[in-house]
Amino acid sequence: MKALILAGGFATRLRPLSCARPKTLFPIVNKPLLQWIFERLARGGVNEAILAVNALTQFYIRQQKPPKCGLKVRFSIDPPRKPLGTGGPVKKAEKLLGCKEPFIVLNGDIFADIDYKKLLDTHKRNNAMVTMALCSIKDPCSFGVVELNGEAIKRFVEKPPKGQEPSNLINAGAYVLSPEIFKYIPENRAVSIEREVFPKIVEAKRMVGCCIDGLWMDIGKPHEYLEANKIILDSLGSTIEKPKPNGFKVNYPVAFDHGVSIGEKSIIGPYAIIGKNVKVGRNVSISDSVIFSNVEIADGASIEGAVVGEGVYVGKHAKLEKGCIVGDQSKIKDNVDLHENSAVCPAKEIS
Ligand code: GDD
Ligand code: MG
Repeated sequence: MKALILAGGFATRLRPLSCARPKTLFPIVNKPLLQWIFERLARGGVNEAILAVNALTQFYIRQQKPPKCGLKVRFSIDPPRKPLGTGGPVKKAEKLLGCKEPFIVLNGDIFADIDYKKLLDTHKRNNAMVTMALCSIKDPCSFGVVELNGEAIKRFVEKPPKGQEPSNLINAGAYVLSPEIFKYIPENRAVSIEREVFPKIVEAKRMVGCCIDGLWMDIGKPHEYLEANKIILDSLGSTIEKPKPNGFKVNYPVAFDHGVSIGEKSIIGPYAIIGKNVKVGRNVSISDSVIFSNVEIADGASIEGAVVGEGVYVGKHAKLEKGCIVGDQSKIKDNVDLHENSAVCPAKEIS
């Protein structure tokens, strides 16, 4: 089975961290989101993944080379300066996807425990054209929302006004589609599959839903990104390797990637997710935070509830408060106090 992964969006809500990487490459507990997606697809019986991207996203993915987990991986690239939306890339990849069997399409920016085999069974049993993975959430208005009757989707509304949602069941951003769908998607232009295509399939009575019961997370906003990391760290439990504290203190849970060094008397955790080759000085405290790779944190600094981008330098006794987001390669000088929810652009120097 083939899967098309939509990964050519611009992730504007995750700036400044998304200035230097697409959302699908954001690390989730030290592993790019795309790698989590590949692993789950491979387990679900998929053997080929097609990445629907723009040229810049392709560049970043090629540079980072996330492990392919046994999948054959190809790219389908939106035309220069003409993003194709969420439906256009499906039509563009028609030849790669083929017209013989159903295939999977998924948003490349969600972390979800989706049982693709169950999704495919539901699809076949109903002779559907679209089978959508659904999940139930408290506040559904910023998603696609469905009205369900048994397994049949009676109505699909993309981002309904607050208070007018037909239910709490949202589009989890993963579908099985039958090749007949290609007839419903216009060629050579941006198409919103949610707004332009799904309502027609509902009308043709060929759209069904399949509820998922595992973890589902959208990492759209910085606090959601941080929260997703914490929840997944919790879910990994004892499977995660424990660091050996050597003169510093660890409050679990924490996750350390390779090459992390921590100075004496530092207090790490709870919920400190620390990337590759991060160097932490003495008397540093880090909690509720994600630190990307190659960061250096000098003596006496404190980081609580922040996301620190790749290659950042945090000076002596600097303080990063809750909600701070520091773009890649910036330098926070000694004694700087970054107040709650501050965002620092990439490569900036803050004194
Ligand atoms: N190739 C390509 N080209 N991919 C795109 C483009 C484009 O022009 N625009 C968006 N994408 C990709 C994004 O990278 C993302 O992975 C996916 O398509 C969905 O786009 P978003 O912009 O993230 O949509 P959303 O989060 O507002 O809403 C969608 O996801 C929700 C679940 O997270 C919708 O599908 C909702 O119905 C759904 O509930
Ligand atoms: Mg999204």
